[in-house]
Amino acid sequence: MIRAYTFASGKGGTGKTTVTVNLGTALAQFGKETYIVDSDVGMANLGLILGLESAPVTLHEVLAGKAKINDAIYDGPCGVKVVPSGISLQGFQSADPQRLKDVMKDLVSRCDFLLIDAPAGLGTDGVIPLAVADEVILVVNPEISSLVDALKIKILTEMMGGTVRGAILNRATMENTDLSRQKIENVLGVEVIDIIPEDPNVRRSAAYKTPIVVKYPESASARAFMRIAANIAGVEYTETEEVRKENFIDRLARALFRR
Ligand SMILES: Nc1ncnc2c1ncn2[C@@H]1O[C@H](COP(=O)(O)OP(=O)(O)OP(=O)(O)O)[C@@H](O)[C@H]1O
Ligand SMILES: [Mg+2]
Repeated sequence: MIRAYTFASGKGGTGKTTVTVNLGTALAQFGKETYIVDSDVGMANLGLILGLESAPVTLHEVLAGKAKINDAIYDGPCGVKVVPSGISLQGFQSADPQRLKDVMKDLVSRCDFLLIDAPAGLGTDGVIPLAVADEVILVVNPEISSLVDALKIKILTEMMGGTVRGAILNRATMENTDLSRQKIENVLGVEVIDIIPEDPNVRRSAAYKTPIVVKYPESASARAFMRIAANIAGVEYTETEEVRKENFIDRLARALFRR
């Protein structure tokens, strides 16, 4: 069973941190022991969106050899375990990304699922997370620049002997300016695992420092996160009849995307 996933995109701001936090929380809601790790040691924000910005020990200290991983693990929503990175520039400078592999090996032995939030770009800190997971999932937006950068990540991952499981299309607007699911699959050469719609509730929930699957569980994006998490966990996820009716438009839009 695949247990360690890295969420990567190449391009910044496609939704890696949002996806990692919400899938991690959803997996915990399904009763899976789940760790989420911020490997974006330069521009850490996974801790920020969960209100852990003043965590005294972070991945920075662990990667600098100054602290043990046990001291950098915090309790997140619904029992998900969180390993944040620090926000100081000094901490970033003393962190050695080469240590990430050993840290991840240690963490994966403790849990059902380990989700790693990768940084944007192709620096050392961006490349190492691609090699430490069992599988990489690309987080893309329906626009060409996002695809081009995701393709670079895919090629790089494969050059390092890693595997790209597929792509999550985030921030889909269903407008005809969006790239179609088919086009994305053709360009990337991997399956689009699922589609998360553009949803103003994502920003709202971030303001409350709470994952959207907790804050607005009925919202369109939260339901997409639950569906993807159920797929990863191999558990049954059925929406209630009421939600199913509300989802009709969503499903119609998804079907159109498959054209
Ligand atoms: N489905 C969505 N609908 C609306 N807004 C979204 C959605 N997904 C993400 N966002 C917003 O997009 C912004 C970027 O998201 P996020 O920080 O998760 O991206 P990222 O890929 O981790 O960025 P970075 O490369 O800077 O680490 C945030 O303001 C977030 O609230
Ligand atoms: Mg991020």
